[in-house]
Amino acid sequence: MLPSMAGLSEHTREQIALHRQVAHMYRRRSAYPFAEAFQDERNAILMSLAPARPAPGPAGTAATDVPAAATVRALDLGCGTGITIDLLVERYGEAVGVDVSQEMLDGYQRGPDSPVELVRADMAALPFLEGRFDVVVCRSALHHMDDEVGVLSEICRVLAPDGSLILGEPANDNVLTRAARWWVRRRPSFGKLHTIDRAYTRRQLRELLEQAGLEVRREQRFGFIAYPLCDNPDLVPVLKLLPFAGGIAAALRAVDRLLARIPVVKNQSWYTMLEVGRRTGRP
Ligand SMILES: C[S@@+](CC[C@H](N)C(=O)[O-])C[C@H]1O[C@@H](n2cnc3c(N)ncnc32)[C@H](O)[C@@H]1O
Repeated sequence: MLPSMAGLSEHTREQIALHRQVAHMYRRRSAYPFAEAFQDERNAILMSLAPARPAPGPAGTAATDVPAAATVRALDLGCGTGITIDLLVERYGEAVGVDVSQEMLDGYQRGPDSPVELVRADMAALPFLEGRFDVVVCRSALHHMDDEVGVLSEICRVLAPDGSLILGEPANDNVLTRAARWWVRRRPSFGKLHTIDRAYTRRQLRELLEQAGLEVRREQRFGFIAYPLCDNPDLVPVLKLLPFAGGIAAALRAVDRLLARIPVVKNQSWYTMLEVGRRTGRP
């Protein structure tokens, strides 16, 4: 499926090289129970923005009475090691995962009868027909693109007219989180993990979406105090060195949940999740 390397941009080839080096770390990232609980909470919020599993159709008659559920065609874009693919399968019964890095795709454990199709492809040129998917999940991958509007337009193309894009991205609205990111980037361990790390302000993200013909339907902010300590324990190795890390992390997550409800304060989070659709009036 992947076009020749010659067809990929320099930036995309750098992404492939980078993720070849870090794929094993993604698998280890939630190896700590407190980090796994953190990821589970984030993923549950992300999935709360995705459409519900369709209700079974009207019952048929007599002996053939098995109500068929309408199919929801789901795509996990920049799926990496598949952290959200299983959630899509759980809800919709099947899913397609796309990533440009073979090493990241190899990190997804797929059984022989798996309803998951993995496709190695560039998000900027998806090998799918228009309107093919009802739900597209893109978790923490957009900020790895050099042409975000191009990629978002491509998502808009493969999305069914009333389909939903569920987007999760680092947020950059808070001066403290900006300072913390600056500090982390200067650490020697950072070079091994990311050559780029961008994050968008609320306004920047909305402008990118608008340019691609998309608009925000719902927004959920996530991650305040727990985020820097739980998201990547190898990068910020504080909790993994402490006793009772699980209890401390659970308490911090509870505080975060409260902060996420307070107007104005909530927009200072580390992470944002959006349900996005085609801009009204756009075919
Ligand atoms: C930060 S990881 C996120 C992975 C996964 N969604 C998650 O949340 O764990 C970003 C992913 O985007 C993929 N990626 C980067 N550039 C890409 C491109 N042009 N097309 C498809 N995938 C790409 C990387 O290989 C990597 O797996």
